[in-house]
Amino acid sequence: MAVVHASSSICSPFRSAPTVSRDLRTFSSPCIAAATLLRRGLRCSSVCRPGKCFASSDRIHPRIAASSAPVMEPFRPEVASRVFTSVEVDLGNRSYPIYIGSGLLDEPDLLQRHVAGKRVLVVTNSTIAPLYLDRVVEALRHGNPEIYVEKVILPDGEKYKNMETLMKVFDKAIESRMDRRCTFVALGGGVIGDMCGFAAAAYVRGVNFIQIPTTLMAQVDSSVGGKTGINHPLAKNMIGAFYQPQCVLVDTDTLKTLPDRELASGIAEVIKYGLIRDAKFFEWQEKNMQAMLARDPNALAYAIKRSCENKAEVVSLDEKESGLRATLNLGHTFGHAIEASFGYGKWLHGEAIAAGMVMVADMSYRLGWVDSSIVERVLNIIQKANLPTAPPQMMTVELFKSTMAVDKKVADGLLRLILLKGPLGSCVFTGEYDRKVLDDTLHSFCKS
Ligand SMILES: NC(=O)c1ccc[n+]([C@@H]2O[C@H](COP(=O)([O-])OP(=O)(O)OC[C@H]3O[C@@H](n4cnc5c(N)ncnc54)[C@H](O)[C@@H]3O)[C@@H](O)[C@H]2O)c1
Ligand SMILES: [Zn+2]
Repeated sequence: MAVVHASSSICSPFRSAPTVSRDLRTFSSPCIAAATLLRRGLRCSSVCRPGKCFASSDRIHPRIAASSAPVMEPFRPEVASRVFTSVEVDLGNRSYPIYIGSGLLDEPDLLQRHVAGKRVLVVTNSTIAPLYLDRVVEALRHGNPEIYVEKVILPDGEKYKNMETLMKVFDKAIESRMDRRCTFVALGGGVIGDMCGFAAAAYVRGVNFIQIPTTLMAQVDSSVGGKTGINHPLAKNMIGAFYQPQCVLVDTDTLKTLPDRELASGIAEVIKYGLIRDAKFFEWQEKNMQAMLARDPNALAYAIKRSCENKAEVVSLDEKESGLRATLNLGHTFGHAIEASFGYGKWLHGEAIAAGMVMVADMSYRLGWVDSSIVERVLNIIQKANLPTAPPQMMTVELFKSTMAVDKKVADGLLRLILLKGPLGSCVFTGEYDRKVLDDTLHSFCKS
């Protein structure tokens, strides 16, 4: 049985891979952006308008996989709309940028450069539409009179992440004559992103799509990496496709309207990156949790950037999840069991995986793979983030076992898990663990 080890310190192939380099890619003005490229002898492939310049070396230096921006830039609202960071997901000729910054919804050039064809279908939901749909449509149309933009507004909620709702996207696409060269734009959280991406993968066997994630969960995780899909009543995310977007546009200002509970849910995925491969990031989170919860723009921007860098590195090394990518599912086997058994949407995804990560830490400790200080730190940071540290009371050992039996990580009847092993920031993906220890953990978290 193969065991995949992962940790940024022990075996982060990113740090040693000769083909992957780092580059300063936080541009704060046209001059800085262009000058940075020129100094490096690079051609500026930016889309420039008076006062605006989105320089990018994408086409010049396609193997850049991550940026190293200053950690905490002073927040200057007057220039905020011109400051952004770009992290590249390196997948050869399917590489794409993740733009991260404040005010990016009002930057038409950035969006338009990734639109293929002249027909666009924006997929969103009834909560996000009144907040951001007009701005996105305006950004698509601005100075671009030939473009035809259609919208489909889906009902809001995880319980609608299903085949019936997906059909509404296809209905609108066919009614509005979306052709092979059209672009689907996902405007929303992970539910919209996953569904729109799957629709784009399947519609006429594949059209372009763009992710505009508006929740922290989507900005740090679901919009990046090309996993798309819907739920089956018996198992979460069971039907889907790997399908990469043309770009991901993260306007950090959208987090201002996000409810607190949703913000905390996204923080669960941020914590996950620290635990599986980035001990320094975990330490940063321990010190900056309050700032993130208080929506300090710099703290959130850094958390998003570092999370995207971690995800981009993992995805570029293992796009189709043959091993390493599975580590991004830390806590998800327990978490998905909670979501499916409790009823989709009752607990948010991040809440379920937060409890799942505590269970993983417990099991890893029982196996003797981590020391008690790691269990304590996991518990503390999850408590600090106002996330649950145990499954809901209705969860029984039997419920866990029956839902975990249909987990996507079951291979030949054997449930493989992501477990912590070694120092902080290290984990393994393995089916080689004592089954009794899994039972012990389940019994210690469930009444029956
Ligand atoms: N594809 C992947 O790799 C991946 C990774 C992680 C999670 N996911 C999936 O993502 C989903 C969870 O995503 P989520 O947490 O974003 O949930 P979500 O999409 O349901 O959004 C959460 C809620 O916030 C609302 N909302 C979104 N943006 C808002 C904003 N800016 N202001 C106010 N309200 C806003 C939404 O309408 C919704 O009510 C799950 O289905 C999960 O399986 C996928
Ligand atoms: Zn997740």
